[in-house]
Amino acid sequence: MAFALLDRLEAHKKLSFDQWCEVLSDCDGPSFEEAKIRASAIAQKHFGRGIYIRGIVEFTNFCRNECHYCGLQKSRRDLVRYRLSQEEILSCCEAGYRLGLRTFVLQGGEDPGIDDAWLIALIGQLQSRFPDACITLSLGERSEQSYAALFAAGARRYLLRHETASHSLYRKLHGPTQSYFERLSCLYRLKALGYQTGAGMLIGPPGQSLEHLAEDFCFIQAFQPEMLGCGPFIPHAQTIYAHEPAGSVKRTLYVLSLCRLLLPDLLLPATTALATEDAHGYEEGIAHGCNVIMPNLTPRVSKMHYQLYNGVDCETSFEEALSRLKLRVTDLGYHLVFGRGDHPRFAQHKGRNA
Ligand code: 5AD
Repeated sequence: MAFALLDRLEAHKKLSFDQWCEVLSDCDGPSFEEAKIRASAIAQKHFGRGIYIRGIVEFTNFCRNECHYCGLQKSRRDLVRYRLSQEEILSCCEAGYRLGLRTFVLQGGEDPGIDDAWLIALIGQLQSRFPDACITLSLGERSEQSYAALFAAGARRYLLRHETASHSLYRKLHGPTQSYFERLSCLYRLKALGYQTGAGMLIGPPGQSLEHLAEDFCFIQAFQPEMLGCGPFIPHAQTIYAHEPAGSVKRTLYVLSLCRLLLPDLLLPATTALATEDAHGYEEGIAHGCNVIMPNLTPRVSKMHYQLYNGVDCETSFEEALSRLKLRVTDLGYHLVFGRGDHPRFAQHKGRNA
């Protein structure tokens, strides 16, 4: 009976709210190691010892939102704002493509200066230059019409972390113009349109309890995302949370392993935030069931102004980061996978973007 809830989670892929609370409360008990062992075995069963690699281009740091934890929040008057041109974005992707990348993640703040026509033109360019690559967008909340137009243009994945599934915590962490219900609606829209959809939550932002995390798991098991981004909260010196403690790495790892038990074929990145908080973050993430790493293709000058949290590495070039990653992953007995790396349910799209 020692691991009855982990057994139940593996067998039924579902727990009640109370059961999630109980599992989560054993992070410092024996469940931590047991979940790790099981999560790693499940990831290997579904993905072998391969780690998918994606290149992120952070192409705009303008943002209309006030996420209190985030360094790009609108009210930061001291931040130098930038927006890369299409040519600049294409040349970042070209550099990644030459090194073997076949997924590009175009990420930005919610920049009112970026309209659908501009994005559609960009996606068209990317598709004609890199026809065997997958275009992933991470641009925040947009209208259903916009998501549909971007899908029609060729984008196939969308990352939109829900940040927290607790309504009360969401309200605390975000500005008054942001709506919890709108955010969740966006996720359902994306899924209905056929995107491989990524949700995700912060681990350990100010005020988060285990019950809040249990709400995240209840949401995830209902929503069934294809991807999930979870990393520790890291304070940013120019936000109201400057003096708050960072989220726990151990809790993050435990949550990642539980995510793998809940959704065995999930695309689950070992996030940059995890690697920022822990020098062995990538290795630990993989050991807890992660199967994706997303190094950064953003040019150095821009990256300096894209600090969601403090401690972002702006010095290492993409080429250098990739060769270090290769060594680290190989040392673990794993290897990097340079393919599109679709979610298994979408794998029939292999080799093309349509
Ligand atoms: N610490 C950790 N993660 C953060 N993000 C934003 N600010 C922080 C922070 N201070 C995460 C959010 C967002 C993603 C792009 O980065 O979850 O969705």
